Amino acid sequence: MILEAVNVTYEYPDGTIALKNVNFKVEKGQVVALLGPNGAGKSTLFLHFNGILKPKKGQIRVEGEPIHYTKKGLMKVRQKVGIVFQNPDDQLFAPTVREDVAFGPFNIGLETDEVERRVKDSLRKVGMLGFEDKPPHHLSGGEKKRVAIAGILAMNPKIMVLDEPTSGLDPRGASHIMRLLYNLNKEGMTIIIATHDVDMAPLYADKIYIISNGKIIKEGTPKEVFKDVKTIREANLRLPRIAHLVEILEKEDKLPFNKPYPLTIGEARRRLLDKWKLMETPSHSKVRR
Ligand SMILES: Nc1ncnc2c1ncn2[C@@H]1O[C@H](COP(=O)(O)OP(=O)(O)OP(=O)(O)O)[C@@H](O)[C@H]1O
Ligand SMILES: [Mg+2]
Repeated sequence: MILEAVNVTYEYPDGTIALKNVNFKVEKGQVVALLGPNGAGKSTLFLHFNGILKPKKGQIRVEGEPIHYTKKGLMKVRQKVGIVFQNPDDQLFAPTVREDVAFGPFNIGLETDEVERRVKDSLRKVGMLGFEDKPPHHLSGGEKKRVAIAGILAMNPKIMVLDEPTSGLDPRGASHIMRLLYNLNKEGMTIIIATHDVDMAPLYADKIYIISNGKIIKEGTPKEVFKDVKTIREANLRLPRIAHLVEILEKEDKLPFNKPYPLTIGEARRRLLDKWKLMETPSHSKVRR
């Protein structure tokens, strides 16, 4: 396990118990999605992953080692685990975009040339080249979000934790960021995201956790998790639209479908083609999962 929360309970100073005995495991190289309704505890859990919050009970382990809540221990864990906050205003603070993205790399003692290279590279990856001299507070919401992601990217962490990375982004921007994360993952980065986007999660996640009311109520592959429609609805989530369409085709239009329903357009397409043999799947169009 590259990152683990073991029996974590957390209580805010006002007495709110935001996490109750949470177990959350991530293997190296995985993309893991955390889904859950507002107030479920997603952000609270994420803030534990680099030691910003300390469990009241239980333990966080990174690469098998419990976090040490000393200055040195925290510095060490923060080089491995980069967190993109839900609200970019909590993250961006420097007078310009360039300085903001450069802050982390400078702080870990990289040379100026390397810092400049990383700033440029990360801004290019999130589609924000050309904004270097702008003050972050003059950016739009979606632009801020991308710069916040660039700031963490520039640190090149082993584990990237993103709290609702696509919220506030336009559809193209959201797909762009998800593709970026997908590519980073292919290069070996472990990715953990909190999201409400049930259409996107099955496309990218190897594993999904559902949290509700401070408790993990379900975990498994997207197929395993979305099979449990009752739990999905209890957590104020819904099926992916494409699964919903198939459910309607079966229930209303009596087109027989085997369960579980497809979760992605690629899978639905494959199964429809198989079913009705409308045409051969063209070999050149590689259908994504
Ligand atoms: N600083 C705080 N002090 C007291 N209670 C807090 C604090 N921050 C969050 N909480 C409470 O902890 C619970 C979990 O909040 P958290 O922000 O982790 O939820 P979330 O799953 O990230 O929700 P969202 O989808 O809205 O981002 C909520 O009940 C919230 O009211
Ligand atoms: Mg949150």
